[in-house]
Amino acid sequence: MAIAPILPSSAGKFPLSDYKSLANEELSARITVAREKLGEKLLILGHHYQQDEVIEHADLRGDSYQLSQMAASSKDCRTIIFCGVHFMAETADILANRPEKLVEREGLRVKVILPDMAAGCSMADMAGIRQVEEAWQQLGEVIDTSDMIPVTYINSAASLKAFCGKHGGIVCTSSNAAAVMEWAYERGNRVFFFPDQHLGRNTALTMGFTNDQMPVWNPYEEDLGGNTDEAISGSKVVLWKGHCSVHQMFRPEHVEQFRKNNPGIKIMVHPECPQEVNDIADISGSTGKILKTVEDSPAGTEWAIGTELHLVNRLKKEHPEQEIHFLSPVVCMCATMYRIDLAHLAWACENLVDGDVVNSITVDEETSDYSLVALERMLEVS
Ligand code: 13P
Ligand code: SF4
Repeated sequence: MAIAPILPSSAGKFPLSDYKSLANEELSARITVAREKLGEKLLILGHHYQQDEVIEHADLRGDSYQLSQMAASSKDCRTIIFCGVHFMAETADILANRPEKLVEREGLRVKVILPDMAAGCSMADMAGIRQVEEAWQQLGEVIDTSDMIPVTYINSAASLKAFCGKHGGIVCTSSNAAAVMEWAYERGNRVFFFPDQHLGRNTALTMGFTNDQMPVWNPYEEDLGGNTDEAISGSKVVLWKGHCSVHQMFRPEHVEQFRKNNPGIKIMVHPECPQEVNDIADISGSTGKILKTVEDSPAGTEWAIGTELHLVNRLKKEHPEQEIHFLSPVVCMCATMYRIDLAHLAWACENLVDGDVVNSITVDEETSDYSLVALERMLEVS
C-alpha cells in the first residue's frame, strides 16, 4: 500500500489577519458556505467547552472520550477541523490515521486542523516526556517498575501516550478513569498516573485506596519527586503534580454557600476538581456525563455546576426549565479553548476550500504507533 506523504502545514492563501476584523455574523455565514462546498469531506468536531458561536458549526460535539471515538470511526471525511485543544487534535490524527483506516483509504491520510495552534492545555503542559522518563528511571531505583502500570490522562502530549504504549500502560479520560485503573490493577500492583493528580486521586479513592498510598511526584524536586523511599515503596498510585487551572478554582466553601442558601440544590462537578470539592459534591463526572445528567433531570431541578463556564452557560440557556448556577463566584473559563473563535474557524475553512490545509497537526509515525497501543487499550476497556 502506498502511504500518501504527510503534507506540511501551510499558512494558507488567505491571511488570518483578514478575518480578525470581520463581524461574527459575516464569519458565521462564510463558514456555512465553505462547509457546504466541502460537504462530507470535512468533519468539524467540537468539545463541550467551546464558545456557542463556534460549537454551532460542529457536526459532532462531545467530551474527550466521545470525540476520540468520533475521530476513530470517521468514514468519509478527508479533513477534521478540531475545535478543541492541541492534545485532542493529536489524538484525532492518531486514531483517524491508524493502519487499518489507511488501508481502507488506500493510503490517504485524514488531515487534522487545529484552528489556533496556541490552543493548548495548561495541564497537559505540566508533564513533559523527559520529566516522565526521568521519573520512571528514578522510580525503578526504588521499586520494580515492571509491576507498575503508567496511566496517562488523555490531556497529555502524544509522547506521553507513546510512553504508556511502550511500557504496558494505557490512556484514560474523565469518563473511563475507574475502568482504566481496574484494567491497570489486573496487570500490575501500582499505577503511575499523570498529569492530573486530582483525577488520579479522586478515581483511586473510589477504588478504596487512601491518600497515604498516593505520594505526589513533583517533577521539579530533584530526588524521587520530593518523596522518601518508604513513601514510594508503600505506594499504590504515584500521582503527578499537575492540575487544571480552571477546575482548581472551585472550592469547598462555594459548595457550602450554595447548600446554605439553596436547600435542595444538587452539586455536580468535573473530577479534575480537587478532592475536597469532589468528595462533597453529589455527582462527579465528565463533561458528557454532566450534560446527560442535566438532560435527564426533571423540570425544577436546581444545580450548581463546577466545570468550565461556557458549558455551564450553555446548559443554563438550553434548560430554562431547571435552575442552573455556576459553582464559583469568579469566572473560571478555559482560556486556551477560548482561542478557537469564528475568525480562526472561517480562516481554516476558506483556505481548505482553496486546497490549503492550515495549522495541520501530524504526529510522527513512531509516536503515533506507540500512542495507538495505549489508546486502543483504552477504547477496548470502555
Ligand atoms: P472531558 O473529557 O470531561 O470532556 O474533559 C476534558 C477536559 O479538558 C476537562 O477539562
Ligand atoms: Fe486543559 Fe483545564 Fe482547559 Fe481542560 S479545562 S483543556 S484540563 S486547561
